[in-house]
Amino acid sequence: MRVLYLNGPNLNLLGQREPGIYGQTTLEAIEARVRRRANELGIEVEFSQSNFEGQLVEWIQQARGRFEVIVLNAGGYTHTSVAIRDAIAATGVPTIEIHLSNVFAREDFRHQSMIGGVCRGQVSGFGVGSYLLALEASVIVTNELKTTRST
Ligand code: DQA
Repeated sequence: MRVLYLNGPNLNLLGQREPGIYGQTTLEAIEARVRRRANELGIEVEFSQSNFEGQLVEWIQQARGRFEVIVLNAGGYTHTSVAIRDAIAATGVPTIEIHLSNVFAREDFRHQSMIGGVCRGQVSGFGVGSYLLALEASVIVTNELKTTRST
């Protein structure tokens, strides 16, 4: 199974960015932990970050036929991006929305997700654990697809 992790704006600053909210772990260290767990589960992972909305749209479009699942921390674009929502809907690759912080315990504008309605599910509030739980969720999603196809 192949899983594409996409990280949106400002997530390149993890480790130094508002550590009280996002923790002290860098994105590189998160990637290393995801890869270690993915190896144990026999999952192949690609991991990318961009501050640009259009780049995220490109990567989502290109995932079709190459990845079984997308795990997406869209950062601030979560709450605003019609373009990212449309890309997820267009490609049809099951997408899991993740957040390090519990967005529902924060400012009102973070309670709205523009992409949530086209995602398969959400993991929010577990720090690095959100990234790791998304691997388990990816297994669930692909098992569901196999069951649907064989019935
Ligand atoms: C975030 C939550 C978003 O509201 C915020 O804009 C981010 C990070 C998170 O991982 O908790 O950049 O997606």
